[in-house]
Amino acid sequence: MCGIVGYVGKKEAKPVLINGLLRLEYRGYDSAGIATIEDNHLIKVIKDKGRVNQLNENAEINSLTGTIGIGHTRWATHGKPSGVNSHPHLDNSRCFAVVHNGIIENYAELKEFLISKNYTFLSETDTEVIPNLINYYYENSSNSSLEGNEKFLKAVIDATKRLKGSYAIEVLSSLYPDCMIVVRKDSPLVIGKGENENYISSDIPAILSFTKDFYLLNDREFALITRNDIVFYNENAEKIQKEIKNITWDAGAAEKDGYDDFMLKEIYEQPKSIRETIGSRLPKDSISVIEDLALSKEYLESIKKIFIVACGTAMHAGLTAKGIIENLCEIPVEVEAASEFRYRNPIVNSRTLCIYISQSGETADTIAALKLAKSKDAKTIAITNVIGSSISREADYTLYTHAGPEIAVASTKAYTSQIVLLAILAINFAETLDINNSKVRELKKEILLLPGKIEEVLKNEQEIKEFANRIYKEKDVFFIGRGVDYTVALEGSLKLKEISYIHSEAYPSGELKHGPIALIENGITVISILTNPLLVEKSISNIQEVVTRGAKTFVVTNQELNHNFDKVIKIPETSPLISPILSVIPLQLLAYFISKAKGLDVDKPRNLAKSVTVE
Ligand code: F6R
Repeated sequence: MCGIVGYVGKKEAKPVLINGLLRLEYRGYDSAGIATIEDNHLIKVIKDKGRVNQLNENAEINSLTGTIGIGHTRWATHGKPSGVNSHPHLDNSRCFAVVHNGIIENYAELKEFLISKNYTFLSETDTEVIPNLINYYYENSSNSSLEGNEKFLKAVIDATKRLKGSYAIEVLSSLYPDCMIVVRKDSPLVIGKGENENYISSDIPAILSFTKDFYLLNDREFALITRNDIVFYNENAEKIQKEIKNITWDAGAAEKDGYDDFMLKEIYEQPKSIRETIGSRLPKDSISVIEDLALSKEYLESIKKIFIVACGTAMHAGLTAKGIIENLCEIPVEVEAASEFRYRNPIVNSRTLCIYISQSGETADTIAALKLAKSKDAKTIAITNVIGSSISREADYTLYTHAGPEIAVASTKAYTSQIVLLAILAINFAETLDINNSKVRELKKEILLLPGKIEEVLKNEQEIKEFANRIYKEKDVFFIGRGVDYTVALEGSLKLKEISYIHSEAYPSGELKHGPIALIENGITVISILTNPLLVEKSISNIQEVVTRGAKTFVVTNQELNHNFDKVIKIPETSPLISPILSVIPLQLLAYFISKAKGLDVDKPRNLAKSVTVE
């Protein structure tokens, strides 16, 4: 996690860095800091515990006038949030300043090595070894013939060769006041090219208002960046060429557009994001088209199992997709948390297809799980929202959700777009296999109707808000559902706990009686999702069982119910295979309004970060 930003140009760096950091705060907000090279060629650092806005209010910040600088917003891993543990970190000579996103796994060993060479450390972080290692290699370079920037570059290359783990790093040096060196491995980093100025960031949206031309670094590629030039090198210090990518996203997509919070904006964007996900993939009079995916009928017939692997909300999208793929393609699907999959030696071979879902495309566990399947000869498909993200560079095939930037930490529109894209994938497989044609036709029709139906669901906002205001002080909430509704219960429960800090649990309705019902007591809130007409009677009996024990009930349904539940949110009918795309929306809104009623920071819940680049 953590966000890093950099600027090399003619303007003052500080406002650019603060602007970028504010947009990267979703990656962590335990502390913030910036460093610039000033006119006297000295590096000046201002950093502290707390958020970017606090940093910006620091009286000293106006003393930074340099036109080259680096910035960092932190999600603490090694060392508690504090001023001294904040980035940027300097080496002992104060000649090198570093910001870092990732984890240096062998930092203890490197620290010991550096201490044996008389280096001292101020912080508890893993990062502080990096500027000191750079200093060490700078002072002890084996190649004394190197001159100018190349000596600086060589020291950074040599130092990073010693690092184990993940990193995106920006390095400034007072000895080379006109340039910056950056490198990445398993953590994201992009370089934006401007006119006589260049920008660096952990993601594209943070600097999209300055440029639309980007270079995407691959693992262990270095860039030496000056105001007028960006030169790329491999780890042998040989120059390499990289292609520039023009990003067509609208910079306004990363703004709140009059909404109080990004989360609410993103909930309301779902009709649009789903239209974008569908794009031209479901043409009216012919079979589905998935760009860049070429899996033959023979290959699909040879598959014995599909794994869907992901984390958190993305895994919940996978749970819904399991039902769609099994139903349409008749291939067994197993869904697993990436953090479990990667360490349990799963049975994967050339007859297994592995699908990885990641909004950010940077989740460390998901990427590691993908690499594992590749090493076992399985084909891999990545479903991601971020163009050029790390996962897209690892997978055999990458399918983009095209949901637009998702800024709120709690995922909403990415989840619904993931389900839509997986449903289109299932349709594509079934069409290739030439099976279940009428089910495929029916599902296609229903997918195309989703944007309009989501608009209908959003009209329930006021009623949902009123219920949120009734229950926001509660300590425990239960979510129940059967079949596909259970997968939505899991997602609703996750949304609630992460942004409202209310303890919540999700159970398959039929499981209540096997233990959890002991927790149901007078006044407790039970949220039920009830969309499958075949399971209505059974699900209603389960709701009645909790009502009998005094529970308040909030029911999301597409059925006509003649029962006296506390609140019923009626949603349009759709195919039971994709009903989560509609039924999740009241749950997203409920979590949102509960968090607002509690006065919490909806977009940046405590302890979380949007992009989990550490395991
Ligand atoms: C919850 C949420 C997380 C993410 C998870 C995976 O609202 O957003 O559970 O879904 O961290 O992130 P990605 O999809 O970026 O791999």
